[in-house]
Amino acid sequence: MLQPLLRYIGPVANSKGILSTDTSPNGAFAEYLVIDPALVFTLPDDVPFEIGAQLGVSCYAACQALYQTLHLPTPLDPATEPIDILIWAGSSSSGHYAMQFANLSGLRVVSTASQRNFDLVRSLGAVEVFDYADSRTPKKIHTATGGKLTYAVDCISDGMTPAQVSNCLSKDGGTIVTLLPYESRKKGIKTELIVVYSMWGEVSDFCHA
Ligand SMILES: NC(=O)c1ccc[n+]([C@@H]2O[C@H](COP(=O)([O-])OP(=O)(O)OC[C@H]3O[C@@H](n4cnc5c(N)ncnc54)[C@H](OP(=O)(O)O)[C@@H]3O)[C@@H](O)[C@H]2O)c1
Repeated sequence: MLQPLLRYIGPVANSKGILSTDTSPNGAFAEYLVIDPALVFTLPDDVPFEIGAQLGVSCYAACQALYQTLHLPTPLDPATEPIDILIWAGSSSSGHYAMQFANLSGLRVVSTASQRNFDLVRSLGAVEVFDYADSRTPKKIHTATGGKLTYAVDCISDGMTPAQVSNCLSKDGGTIVTLLPYESRKKGIKTELIVVYSMWGEVSDFCHA
């Protein structure tokens, strides 16, 4: 049960279920919102709503990928030795958050983007950025990480990226967190689908294709 007068933030669900595509009156401009208490948390007094409002799905997805799924060090207890991680699509919304959290966690971030976004992606914490449209990029990332990359977050998880991201990882295997469901065709590569609405322990039937 939520406490009255406290300020809460979280993803807004509609009245027919979180993942329903039906139009619903339970939107951000409603006077009252109906939401599962498991999906919200209190906004600290010193954080304005304007900041809280942008902590949406992408932010939670990044946390779920790095900490709940890959069990990497958190910003509260960062890695003392750099650990390489590939954040595929650093210029995506999820990629922005994943790179910044990874950086705060002491990880060494390698990423991809269009060339026009290289500077942006570097400014958010990537030490190296590669063009995702370049067919040589997986090999370049494999080389840039000494053939030892074992962690990746695929912030697109569609089209060519299952093969591209798989080919970046070590020949000894690794784990790709995916934002949409897929299995890697490469031997030894495990994929873990995250569904942000399950972050607080809620079970969802989301798109098991
Ligand atoms: N499972 C979950 O809980 C969850 C959570 C969040 C999002 N998602 C899903 O994740 C996907 C991404 O969402 P988002 O909002 O983070 O993305 P977004 O912000 O819409 O990403 C757009 C950017 O991705 C880059 N991009 C496009 N294709 C790419 C490719 N093949 N390789 C690398 N980068 C590419 C482009 O960057 P450039 O401009 O540099 O070309 C584009 O500007 C969506 O399908 C979304 O539904 C799932």
